[in-house]
Amino acid sequence: KKEAIGKSHAKIILIGEHSVVYGHPAIAFPIDSIPMTVTISTITNGIRINSEFYKGSLKEAPVNLLGIKRLIEAVCKKLATGPVNIQINFTSEIPSERGMGSSAAVSIALIKSLYNYFEAPLTKQEMFELSTIEETITHGNPSGIDTATVSSEAPVWFIHKQAPGPIKMNLDGYLIIADSGIRGQTDVAVNSVRQMVNQDQNARAAIGNLGQLTTETKATLEKNDLNHLGTLLNHAQQQLDYLGINIPRTEHLIQVANRSGSLGSKLTGSGLGGCIIALADNHASALKIANALENAGAVNTWIETL
Ligand code: MEV
Repeated sequence: KKEAIGKSHAKIILIGEHSVVYGHPAIAFPIDSIPMTVTISTITNGIRINSEFYKGSLKEAPVNLLGIKRLIEAVCKKLATGPVNIQINFTSEIPSERGMGSSAAVSIALIKSLYNYFEAPLTKQEMFELSTIEETITHGNPSGIDTATVSSEAPVWFIHKQAPGPIKMNLDGYLIIADSGIRGQTDVAVNSVRQMVNQDQNARAAIGNLGQLTTETKATLEKNDLNHLGTLLNHAQQQLDYLGINIPRTEHLIQVANRSGSLGSKLTGSGLGGCIIALADNHASALKIANALENAGAVNTWIETL
């Protein structure tokens, strides 16, 4: 009886969400303390899924698993020589639809586990191409930043249609991530920003500003200037707010973080719910901000060292 495993992890975007869709750069961090694991074992009766959301045959999987279904079918068509009889188990600590890359993480861990199972070599290019099958069905027309970051061990400098580059990090600080508990759908948020960009010159300017702020952030990460980084995050938040994806719940959490000593706070990911991030220069301050956010209704918080 064969067993195979594939792993990935959560991600957060530090700066550049949405503007990345328009060709500007973005910076994202892997969050490897929040893992996603897929294991595969041989069974006798076709392909079966075992996840928190669905247990049963792949054939009868509900429509929200269509992206995963098409991805599994594509890989099996490529690699299997006969009928496939496997159970695919998903174990995830990544909350879904909160801007933490859960769907990209599923698709990367799944591809890795299937390639392991079929004992086939997997190139990075093949992995990203295959993940597009799932991400396009789930998210519309994603930039690819999520798949690049959930499969990376290091911070990512990302530009659409280019190979992800490294980021030099030379600062000591803490990022607090807080989950608003509200699901935000990436395709809905991306489409609503696109409508604004098509109609409103100031929205186009906001996208350009986000690009500029991202480039400045890259330079700031190389120096040890947390205060300036905080200012850049606050400015990015103003642009995202203008673009209409900051809902009252995330605005409230951002204000609480700022009142509790955050050096800069913004939403992260596609918005319309999801998570916020806040910046602190020491661990005691990070704990204080995380506590305040939980008291203000965040359903979960995480503290990451920069
Ligand atoms: C989603 O994590 C990030 C967005 O910029 C969409 C994308 O890049 O595809 C909102």
